[in-house]
Amino acid sequence: MTEFPPALAEVAHHLREAQEIAVLTGAGISAESGVPTFRDAQTGIWAKYDPMQLATPEAFAADPKRVWEWYAWRRGLVAEAKPNPGHLALANLEGEVPALTLITQNVDRLHHRAGSKNVVELHGNLEEDRCSHENCVVRADPSDNRTPPHCPRCEALLRPNVVWFGEALSPAALERSFNAAGNCDLFLCIGTSSLVYPAADLPMEALNRGATVVEINADPTPLSPHATYCLQGKAGTLLPAISALAFPAITTNGSPA
Ligand code: OAD
Repeated sequence: MTEFPPALAEVAHHLREAQEIAVLTGAGISAESGVPTFRDAQTGIWAKYDPMQLATPEAFAADPKRVWEWYAWRRGLVAEAKPNPGHLALANLEGEVPALTLITQNVDRLHHRAGSKNVVELHGNLEEDRCSHENCVVRADPSDNRTPPHCPRCEALLRPNVVWFGEALSPAALERSFNAAGNCDLFLCIGTSSLVYPAADLPMEALNRGATVVEINADPTPLSPHATYCLQGKAGTLLPAISALAFPAITTNGSPA
């Protein structure tokens, strides 16, 4: 039987009492689904690739084919991945509490596939393509075998609909995220190194507005000293345990009873 820290029961109490919950997730919540994180010691093929060198407008301009192929590889990886009990627990929580906004830095859409509805994708997603000229989401013509394919409307190159380093985030996504962080009474920060801004400002915004901030992460981060609760461990273990304590109808593997 896994031993859980006493703070878990306190966090479960906050979960039961909260009127508005905001959640920020990072790559750590998808790690147990087999999707590599950005900054953990890279194993496998990512040890060769440096995301910081490929996920930039400059890299795409210099070698669109290489960048497109790297994302095709990531899309294949994510297509194989399944939501894990951490994703499922958050999706189930959404149905148990008055209001929950799930803000994610991840582009894998595993929260959607787990059933979460109110999701803000701060960094875009791997499922959609965008015209590199018109900047709108478009679908490639299935018969276009070029790498990358071209926009069916204006012939410009298509690119993944993700935010690259140095690019601005969607103002609408930022507004929804900071509103949720500023109005919540409970903020859960899960599986993120809290190193990338403006996402890393969100838990501090919640804290400054008087919310209870709970960090659930495998390792300490710059947020850890400031969080109301700092639960060190795997999201796929801790989230179902907290949910089961708060709402016993949710079984421990994150799926409904
Ligand atoms: P990181 O790789 O920076 O951090 C992942 C965090 O998850 C680390 O702190 C790990 O300790 C933790 N972690 C790993 N496995 C975990 C598990 N099973 N349960 C809980 N925590 C676990 O990824 P992010 O913080 O998401 O931006 O990175 C933020 C952004 O940096 C990404 O969205 C990406 C990157 O630049 C863009 O692509 C624009």
